[in-house]
Amino acid sequence: MNVEELEGRLTELASEAVAHLAEVADRENAIQVKNRYLGRKGSVQELMAVLRELPHEDRRRAGQASNRCKEAIEEAFRERLDDLARQELEERMVAEALDVTLPGRRSTLSLGHPLRQVERDLIGIFAEMGYEVAEGPEIEEDYYNFEALNFPPDHPARDMQDTFLLTDGRLLRTHTSPVQVRTMHAYEPPIRIISPGRVYRCDSDLTHSPVFHQIEGLLVDRGITLAHLKGTLTTFAERFFGAGTAIRLRPSYFPFTEPSAEVDVECFFCGGDGCRVCSQTGWLEILGAGMVDPNVFEAAGIDPDVYSGFAFGLGVERIAMLKQGINDIRRFFENDLRFLDQF
Ligand code: PHE
Repeated sequence: MNVEELEGRLTELASEAVAHLAEVADRENAIQVKNRYLGRKGSVQELMAVLRELPHEDRRRAGQASNRCKEAIEEAFRERLDDLARQELEERMVAEALDVTLPGRRSTLSLGHPLRQVERDLIGIFAEMGYEVAEGPEIEEDYYNFEALNFPPDHPARDMQDTFLLTDGRLLRTHTSPVQVRTMHAYEPPIRIISPGRVYRCDSDLTHSPVFHQIEGLLVDRGITLAHLKGTLTTFAERFFGAGTAIRLRPSYFPFTEPSAEVDVECFFCGGDGCRVCSQTGWLEILGAGMVDPNVFEAAGIDPDVYSGFAFGLGVERIAMLKQGINDIRRFFENDLRFLDQF
């Protein structure tokens, strides 16, 4: 091979390498291709082995031709890397494009489920009067739900509450009153608790749901009388339903209180004049209450000759329905946002 032929071959190699580099799709491949031509055992080096066969006076020319070839390949390599980097950036820009003119997604702030709102308000009123929140299990023992509350076995009053019984003899609590017993077992008087929670009864219609919510109140101390109960509930009614709201106590029966009362509040729709909501009576029945029966104190290990107390219980759904004009209890449990968003 003479020097002209070598020059020709080097030019060919250079354009071959440039064409190759133009086709590679990423950095790694570009480096591989470059090495294939310019590496220590690359095509250019291989070709330059003929240098030894060339006459002395041609070697300088051959060396220059080899340098030109290498430079051309190096340059094509750098350009290709730049192109690849630019291309990658462009792809990322497209992929990560953010249209800042699109309308934002609104996050809605909820005040909570209407039942929770009412529950929170009720608890808040009693908390201000110094009551503490106490909780108990929803799966309850007969002892706490009935027996210790002075419902002896086979007592007809058990039929007042349609109980869901479990196969192991336990039951779904039918009211929050078992928390009274649990609290009196655990703490010495004075006791002042409010106990919100879910309760269960086998009953279902427009105003009854098999699961619903009650709030229980219990106060035990020395010298507590019915007057304290009435005063407390009057304060509650005024805070919750508005200043001047009257209450009245009607004699009633619960096994765990003696005397017992149904507590009515003056209808807050008509102010007591009589309307459709209160069936023209001017009163709405909202609470059960009474003085803790001595038998309940004895079962809980509290001396009824030293202490007395009162208890009351109310249904959260009933109050929420009255207050918010809801006529079907199932609305609370359907999770329909169109309903829930109104509160
Ligand atoms: N536990 C009673 C019920 O569910 C309500 C109540 C509670 C009555 C406390 C008196 C005292 O019907």
